[in-house]
Amino acid sequence: MAKKIAVFASGNGSNFQVIAEQFPVEFVFSDHRNAYVLERAEQLGVPSYAFELKEFDSKADYEEAIVELLAEHEIDLVVLAGYMKIVGSTLLSAYEGRIINIHPAYLPEFPGAHGIEDAWNAGVAESGVTVHWVDSGVDTGKIIKQVRVPRSADDTIEIFEARIHEAEYQLYPEVLESLGVVKKG
Ligand code: GRF
Repeated sequence: MAKKIAVFASGNGSNFQVIAEQFPVEFVFSDHRNAYVLERAEQLGVPSYAFELKEFDSKADYEEAIVELLAEHEIDLVVLAGYMKIVGSTLLSAYEGRIINIHPAYLPEFPGAHGIEDAWNAGVAESGVTVHWVDSGVDTGKIIKQVRVPRSADDTIEIFEARIHEAEYQLYPEVLESLGVVKKG
């Protein structure tokens, strides 16, 4: 049986789009009801769900609703792609070992929400992109695959950022395939 994936994204969703163009995606989940990723999903014909943490009494209740969705759709692998929340114990205990994330730096360098900007500000000659398993820490889970991305002397941060994103668009599909997710026929 082919592995069924769900993609979680909080905002733009360019990684989601790259993935959905190559692989069947059961659904997209966003923790923001007005996220642009939801428009991308509609255009690509991928079902989507959106609800917000603040609509629930607790993070546990919010994640319980997510776990129900994952179970209903028999999801094998949760693919975080710009999902800007820390995965809490409710979701993690139900799906640990079945959640991956992409981070726009060469972990353990520059973890956290500003990996590109932090690398840029540190003046590194190269940064990178990492796909890793999700654990209870922030960008601390076991690394699956990472690539280096150079920074050129004449880069602007926009050019550097675009190069990082291009590397993401290559790496995430490669990792999905290596984990047994089958491309669209
Ligand atoms: C990506 O850089 C990803 O590595 C990070 O958040 C960004 C999401 O971009 N976790 P997008 O929403 O896929 O365009």
